[in-house]
Amino acid sequence: MTVTTLDRREIKVRTLADAPALIERLWPAQKLSAEAKKERKAGSGQTLTALGSYWKGRKPLVLVRACILGSLLPATDNPEADLRIFERLMAMDDLAFGIRDNRTSVPQLATLALKQGVLKDQFVCKDGSAILAEQSAAASELLQDHQFSERLRTAIWNPKITAKERIHIKAMLLSAVPYEERVSRSLRPEELGREDYADIWREVNEHLGTSANSHAELVEQLGIMRFGRKPKIADTFSGGGSIPFEAARMGCDVHASDLNPIACMLTWGALNIIGASAAGHAEMKATQAALSSRVDREITMLAIEHDEVGNRAKAFLYCLETRCPSSGWMVPLLPSRIISKTRSVVVQLVPDRENRRYEIEVVDGVSTAQLKAAETGTLVDGYLVHSVDGELHRTSIKSIRGDHRAPDGSSKNQLRQWEKADFIPRGDDIFQERLYCIQWIIAKTVGKQRYETFFSSVNDSDLRREKKVQSIVRENLAKWQEAGWAPDMPILDGRETEGPIRTMGWTYWHHFFNPRQLHMLSCFRRFADPDAPHEALLLAKLADRMARNTRWDASGEKSQTVFDTQGLKTFFNYSCRAFPYLRDLAEDLPNRHALTGHATIETHPADDVREVADIFITDPPYADAVHYHEITEFFISWLRRNPPSPFDQWTWDSRRPLAIKGEGEDFRREMVAAYGAMANHMPDNGLQVVMFTHQSGSVWADLAQIFWGAGLQVQAAWYIATETTSELRKGGYVQGTVILVLRKRRGSVSGYEDEIVQDVRAEVAHQIDTLVGLNQSLKGNGRVENLFEDADLQMAGYAAALRVLTGYTKIDGRDMTVEAVRQRRKGEVGVVDRMIEYAVSVANEHMVPDGISARLWQQLKGPERFYLKMVGLEAGGHSKLDNYQNFQRAFRVSDYNPFMGNVRPNSARLKRATEFGPRAGFDIPDFGDGAIRAVLFGVDALVREVEPEIVLAQLQDIMPDYFRRRQDMIEVAEYFVTKRGRDDDEGRHAGVLANLLRNERL
Ligand SMILES: C[S@@+](CC[C@H](N)C(=O)[O-])C[C@H]1O[C@@H](n2cnc3c(N)ncnc32)[C@H](O)[C@@H]1O
Repeated sequence: MTVTTLDRREIKVRTLADAPALIERLWPAQKLSAEAKKERKAGSGQTLTALGSYWKGRKPLVLVRACILGSLLPATDNPEADLRIFERLMAMDDLAFGIRDNRTSVPQLATLALKQGVLKDQFVCKDGSAILAEQSAAASELLQDHQFSERLRTAIWNPKITAKERIHIKAMLLSAVPYEERVSRSLRPEELGREDYADIWREVNEHLGTSANSHAELVEQLGIMRFGRKPKIADTFSGGGSIPFEAARMGCDVHASDLNPIACMLTWGALNIIGASAAGHAEMKATQAALSSRVDREITMLAIEHDEVGNRAKAFLYCLETRCPSSGWMVPLLPSRIISKTRSVVVQLVPDRENRRYEIEVVDGVSTAQLKAAETGTLVDGYLVHSVDGELHRTSIKSIRGDHRAPDGSSKNQLRQWEKADFIPRGDDIFQERLYCIQWIIAKTVGKQRYETFFSSVNDSDLRREKKVQSIVRENLAKWQEAGWAPDMPILDGRETEGPIRTMGWTYWHHFFNPRQLHMLSCFRRFADPDAPHEALLLAKLADRMARNTRWDASGEKSQTVFDTQGLKTFFNYSCRAFPYLRDLAEDLPNRHALTGHATIETHPADDVREVADIFITDPPYADAVHYHEITEFFISWLRRNPPSPFDQWTWDSRRPLAIKGEGEDFRREMVAAYGAMANHMPDNGLQVVMFTHQSGSVWADLAQIFWGAGLQVQAAWYIATETTSELRKGGYVQGTVILVLRKRRGSVSGYEDEIVQDVRAEVAHQIDTLVGLNQSLKGNGRVENLFEDADLQMAGYAAALRVLTGYTKIDGRDMTVEAVRQRRKGEVGVVDRMIEYAVSVANEHMVPDGISARLWQQLKGPERFYLKMVGLEAGGHSKLDNYQNFQRAFRVSDYNPFMGNVRPNSARLKRATEFGPRAGFDIPDFGDGAIRAVLFGVDALVREVEPEIVLAQLQDIMPDYFRRRQDMIEVAEYFVTKRGRDDDEGRHAGVLANLLRNERL
């Protein structure tokens, strides 16, 4: 990495030392949300993903870039200009889209120009003639005209317009397109080259008094103006390395650390593989290719992947097999018998009566009906199911395993716990393992870029090869383990590891790998260059694809990865890749990107930070997020012995006890220690940016205490929609991150709970109203889904409360910095918890569902709000119990069971009107005698075909002050119509009720 040197004469040291940072005042959170989502959507095309997709939750680089620039740029007394400069640096200004957009064709641009009434001679027809006649009709008329449309379709740029002018014209035309749509049609800012920013520097330098010609130069100059040096950015929870990587790319000096060596390895990879020089990158690629061919030669020499005619395996499919206690037969455990949907390949179980077992036959090109039938295998809903001579045998896997509760309440079973020397099941184990199908590459296409494959049953030669691999492993495993070429680490019990231990009997990490996998991975480990750290990253990537828990995907004919989900799942059948299936991965290296900053990396706990940094940007572990400390042991087990330099300087242990996790007391204490240490290693004008995502109020109350305890004060909080969950397509659900900006707390401010409550109210209300307003204005722009859902609004409300609270050092005479680290009594509710709860209730008041008036909302009780809210959510297709629980807490509903029709985790739903039923007499105490109860009552009666007049009369009886509250009932009934829909029984009858009420003669 090179460090930029530049002429510093014009830059005066520390002129911006006390200037507030832009991110403390303004930040285009909305546009950044669109950019972050765009980056996420790139999936495996994201810059750092190729280092290891097993690392979940890397923060979007565009967000990190915005945090860095926002922390360095000053907020001046010209906010509009500040914002414009920020956007130009981020390539988020209108002009940038003249370059970024890479999908809008010239005819589409010409059409935009026509619609905007600015079509002149920028564009011409392909034959050089003008597009518009002298006397042209209106755009809408012209577009109806077939001949004109045809001409328009041939539009090209007028050759007289220069390249630069084209960019301007294009940008101007696109500026009318909503931002998110523009972003979706464009390159990401990080994909632009230095030359694409060439035009911004004059304006940037003029505004800032700098003399930069690149981001790196600007960053260095701003660092000098703020801190007297090139800015140093540290991240003590570096994880997959997004923050250090982007900081170094922007030209900062960087210190990255993480407790976990796999995190540090990925951060190292980001900085030194992706950030390598061209020559370094080429050299790494060459050594890696050499390693890969050496492994290939070894496997070829052993003839364990080739058959007699030269076909070479691509994948081996294995399943567990067990003796059915009911029939006494050995039965393969197959959730499905389909091998390939595209080629209609299935396996058939052919009974072998003599040996009371099944032959497994692969059949190609079956009929659609046979394919459909093969969807059901021998494993159905946790039961082993098969028929012998027409008799159906059905036994639960639980009983086969012998599941039971131990006296201490833990789940136990009869599976033998595997021992260190085991790598396949022993003959008398409950679960055996069986190879049942092989995908072969046809001999004449082996080694070709485009090869052909077929699936086949397993024959005796295949089994001989299996035995050969097993005997190689049997003879060598202990030796490999001794040398550090294979794992020998016990699996410690934990939330993620409990499953494999219990359901498979595995006790060591090498039990996750079958003989072929152990052999191949240990070859990679054995032949790796001890001076090639990048080969350790390769090994981890291979392990993610080479374990007993990689699913076979019959739709795409492909093997999944171990960490395609976040946990450590186990399966009854799996696929094992052979070498050709890994060759491309093994020989390839992620693309490089130039970095200008200098970076150091260390493994240590965050509270052990020793380097001073000007800005800390961190994304700390959250209470219930990914259990990195457990799942990374899967990789650590392969890499911990004799790691290559510089990894040999690190602690190769997940250090579970030191990992920050959980909630409450420990979480708070460890976070105070971490953030306190960071605050102590930051100059007085230093800044911290903390990224945080969490829905639970208690965690936010902890966060307030953490910052108090660490001597920090929240200056600003921004809400960014970062993660796009798959539900987005179904119901518009966006998961967000709060960006908290903190400074060292100076001085001390005292306040009283009563007055602080008022500040919290104002701040939270302002925050929620702003976001709700944004939702609405976006809807005005033709967007259908909300950008911010209720859960997001709630979180923004917490952040706003935090901003107010951490401004005080004393509340009601109590020193909050001392209070923060005080041990709590169990169940103790302190002033902060009360404030956060209060913030939630303020947020809720402001989160009025679409279709309900603020006036009615104010009058509703918690349970009524809960019910209406959930009706709204159900309309969006949500059925996760988590959601109901979140809102139960938010609306402070003590027991939600009376309102729930189903409480299953993935198919939760509210009770319908008919389920409250006359038997319960609509006696729903929490609904009191309000409009919701009345509407449910009315709907139920109409469903039961009670005469309309009688329904109205009954409503008058049960609804005090009926005439005054008729309008409320109509409003609620109409809400049901919109949310449930007219195709739904409840929705339709609610419509009838609304009409009855509206037309009732008074
Ligand atoms: C949310 S992740 C960071 C993700 C990262 N920003 C990225 O973009 O990939 C949190 C990180 O904190 C680390 N961690 C947990 N406890 C720690 C501790 N006590 N000290 C330092 N790091 C810790 C975990 O190993 C994990 O890598």
